[in-house]
Amino acid sequence: MNSHAETPVTGNEWWRTAVIYQIYPRSFADASGDGVGDLRGITGRLDQLEALGVDAIWLSPFYTSPQRDAGYDVADFTDVDPLFGTLADFDEMVTEAHARGLRVIVDIVPNHTSDQHEWFQQAIAAAPGSPERDKYIFRPGRGPSGAEPPNNWVSVFGGPAWTRLVDTDGTPGEWYLHLFDTSQPDLNWANDGVLAGFDDVLRFWLDRGVDGFRVDVAHGLIKAEGLPDFVVDESAGSMGSEAQTPPFWAQEGVHDVWRRWRRVLESYEGERILAAEAWVYPLSKMAKWVRSDEMHQAFNFAYLETPWEAAAMREIIDLSISEFAAVGAPSTWVLSNHDVVRHATRLSLSADNPQGHGLGPRSIGLPNPVQGLRRARAATLLMLALPGSSYIYQGEELGLPEAIDVPDEAREDPTFFRTNGERYGRDGCRVPLPWNADAPAYGFSTTGAAWLPQPEAWRDLARDAQVGVPDSTLEMYTTALALRREFGTAMATLEWLDDAPDGCIGFRVGEVTVLANIDGEPVSLPAGEVLGTSSPITDTLPADTTVWVRT
Ligand code: GLC
Repeated sequence: MNSHAETPVTGNEWWRTAVIYQIYPRSFADASGDGVGDLRGITGRLDQLEALGVDAIWLSPFYTSPQRDAGYDVADFTDVDPLFGTLADFDEMVTEAHARGLRVIVDIVPNHTSDQHEWFQQAIAAAPGSPERDKYIFRPGRGPSGAEPPNNWVSVFGGPAWTRLVDTDGTPGEWYLHLFDTSQPDLNWANDGVLAGFDDVLRFWLDRGVDGFRVDVAHGLIKAEGLPDFVVDESAGSMGSEAQTPPFWAQEGVHDVWRRWRRVLESYEGERILAAEAWVYPLSKMAKWVRSDEMHQAFNFAYLETPWEAAAMREIIDLSISEFAAVGAPSTWVLSNHDVVRHATRLSLSADNPQGHGLGPRSIGLPNPVQGLRRARAATLLMLALPGSSYIYQGEELGLPEAIDVPDEAREDPTFFRTNGERYGRDGCRVPLPWNADAPAYGFSTTGAAWLPQPEAWRDLARDAQVGVPDSTLEMYTTALALRREFGTAMATLEWLDDAPDGCIGFRVGEVTVLANIDGEPVSLPAGEVLGTSSPITDTLPADTTVWVRT
């Protein structure tokens, strides 16, 4: 028996159904041999991404940066950091990607700059109240001598969100706001120069042929008038919750910025997109980011954070499709990225640990890797059947787990330092990829160098150890992406199977019936030809397994 059918995906623009592969440049492939991935490394591996069958790539920042937050601290938005190559390398990468039918999305970081950006350097050299200072959020301190920060906001990475300047004569000066690291001052989006400057940044990359932007911290930018104190509801975490909207996130004025940016994109040919990184709750509110005159897509973090339980999974899928459809947008789906514990580990963690806290050798309740991978594969096969657009984070197609045994001295995430090691942070999901089982650094670099140590167990997960191996994770991804295309599941209307057994969720997308046994007893398979399974099966479908059947 089928219950209600979801609203179908409307429109046939590429991004409504695309599978977008996130490249974290410093950890993808290193052509120069210095241990940090680079643009030429990416160009050299595009054939493998074409073989995987993705539609687009999104690159995390490769711009000029002191790398205090792995490149999310940008000193020049319109140049390539020598660590990653040159603008010519970028142009070549785009040409080669387009030649293979792969679209290219780049990251843009508008909430803050690096403290090395010329705007900030000019601001600190100028006097309080000057136009230069107005590009950022400078305030006098509180208390008789201004020794207290202007308000009580804390940084997402831990510690205070304000740092006090020391003036050239050695006396303490104004404070500046940084919702992230001290080296990432927040911009003032009420300043016309900031607005105009970012229009130019968009045009710079659009002129070079990019197909869109992933917009960093798209829930930030505008802060509540008067910068009022905020008492964090601990259960909500720094990203807010349904009950609480912090005065620094999800303020109404941010939508004017997205409308302005949309107009810039629409002045270009082709279907160029904006994709929001907006940690906004609930989904009905996040859907505002993708109204038809704003962005095209928003990452569905509510889906990423949903526990691996049948009822919860069905509810979030339902809600995602309907909330995004209500504004004419496709739903997106995502399980991993460079900020969260990899899903091959996270899905077997008992504690809820999705955003930024990380794992390390001293963490308690470490996961079971076998269970984690099995669940990750089931979750992925389920995700790739859903209508809309899916994001894949580099390495998940190899089944990579979080790297837990990263020694303290190798860690680089500012979260680790700003919390004195209390939170391990995100290095564990950023370890360089293994390409070749028998090469130095598993083929990541030519020299064996790698900016973070790769676990020995990754030898068996190297790409060349998985190609053509029928039950490998890589082959599961490749097959699923091919089937997704062949059967057009991403543009189908999802119809729930209400008679799915306990602990399972099931639905039809076109000719394909999908059954995910999340936490139930083994159940019989749906009738029809089995197209693919997340783990080998015999005649029943056990827990932590997804099957696609042609009916
Ligand atoms: C986003 C990025 C994250 C970065 C932060 C500050 O959340 O995804 O990696 O640290 O913004 O730019």
